[in-house]
Amino acid sequence: MNFQALATPAGGLGTVAADALIVVLPADGKAGTGDKALDAAIAAATKAGDFERKAGRTLYLHSAEGVKSGRVLLSGARDASAKAFRTAVAQGIAALKGRSVRHLAVALAGNGVTAAHAEALAIVAEQAGYVYQHTKPSAEAIPMPAKVSLVTDKAELAEVKQGLVQGQAIGAGVALARECANRPANFCTPTFLGEEAKRIGKEFRLDVQVLDRKAVEKLGMGSFLSVARGSEEPLRFIVMQYHGAAKKDAPIVLVGKGITFDTGGISLKPAAEMDEMKFDMGGAASVLGTMRAIGELKPKVNVVGLIPTCENMPSGIATKPGDVVTSMSGQTIEILNTDAEGRLILCDALTYAERFKPAAVVDIATLTGACVIALGHHHAGLFSPDDALAGELLEASRSAEDPAWRMPLDEEYDEALKSNFADMANVGSRAGGSITAAKFLQRFTKAYPWAHLDVAGVAYKGGANKGATGRPVGLLTHFVLSRAGRQA
Ligand code: BES
Ligand code: MN
Ligand code: ZN
Repeated sequence: MNFQALATPAGGLGTVAADALIVVLPADGKAGTGDKALDAAIAAATKAGDFERKAGRTLYLHSAEGVKSGRVLLSGARDASAKAFRTAVAQGIAALKGRSVRHLAVALAGNGVTAAHAEALAIVAEQAGYVYQHTKPSAEAIPMPAKVSLVTDKAELAEVKQGLVQGQAIGAGVALARECANRPANFCTPTFLGEEAKRIGKEFRLDVQVLDRKAVEKLGMGSFLSVARGSEEPLRFIVMQYHGAAKKDAPIVLVGKGITFDTGGISLKPAAEMDEMKFDMGGAASVLGTMRAIGELKPKVNVVGLIPTCENMPSGIATKPGDVVTSMSGQTIEILNTDAEGRLILCDALTYAERFKPAAVVDIATLTGACVIALGHHHAGLFSPDDALAGELLEASRSAEDPAWRMPLDEEYDEALKSNFADMANVGSRAGGSITAAKFLQRFTKAYPWAHLDVAGVAYKGGANKGATGRPVGLLTHFVLSRAGRQA
């Protein structure tokens, strides 16, 4: 898809010659399009009771009089915000489905299009065309326009252009994350993730190293190894490096949980919905997607992506409850529940991160069911002892429309991890499960500013629309870009 910013022509919006024109009409305003013919068509449709300027309402008009675009799609929005615009555009695109549109133009009545609107449009258009086909080639592809134009005032042209570029890169990153996470665990293996990382590295000039079991043993990642132990599928430890600033500039390190399938191990999960545990590499997928977006946008900042990836399986040699392992940090861990495996692979990756002397480390993980109970499927859980870093991530979350909510990390929660046989246990009681998981990780992050995103509730959807969301690629990309801006 090719995106362009288009200055409103002198003759008005009606003279834009596209195959289809989506006009977003905010419900909280009365402003028209500024085009006589279009405004007349909207007024007539409204008067006839065919259209109401309300969120969720759309109307398809075929060849409106005096309007050059053959098809006009009116779409009501709650207000003129980028968020409401995103929803209204998505509805507009859905309503145009099945009609052959090679050039789509989009406009906001009353104008006021900003970079955020442009970004939202590009992301939504990229996602509208995504269909999972890898193991279902019969799934029908959705034909998407080759060209999408966002109509804007001349004064905002440059800003809108920049927003479209950013949105397209994020959209492609989101689509990549969705595709990886959607693939079943017999396709999306640790080996596959390693190959994907290399492929992205080649395309966007990132340094990519993929370590195998031998190298991981040499590093002393006893905790990570204990999770991979029960599986026949070889583990991988992926290191991706994007160099956008001076070598000496401390990088941002992103660490993604890459459990390609979580059976629970010997602490076996119940059968219901266990298939959804193929999404347990959603954190890793978001790191791949973000590295892709960053590789395309080339901000002036250094970024490292780390992905420990393996399966969590029961077997005759699998780790047993009560086993004690030594992490790369030297701290010993009593594994009371083999289903609390995410923290066991992340802790060694967090220790590995120290060698980069990071400016900040953010880990992303489908870590706990408890986080889904606490926040549902809307907000990701954000944990950080660092108020400044937490603030930056919340700001990135807001600007990317990728919701996150801060959770506590008081030292009182740490008590739950006491063990009689090791420096710590890998689980506490059921109470505050997402917080004790974060407290566990915190024990491995003393060397740098750190934050943790629990995305168990937001990385994928269950039910009839089962599938990966690609979250939080938007949040992470905005965070990295804001850091680049700060350094420039
Ligand atoms: N991958 C799961 C967490 C999860 C649960 C993600 C539901 C998405 C939806 C994780 O490895 C896990 O099993 N966590 C346990 C921890 C418990 C044993 C302390 C959980 O949440 O039940
Ligand atoms: Mn688990
Ligand atoms: Zn898991």
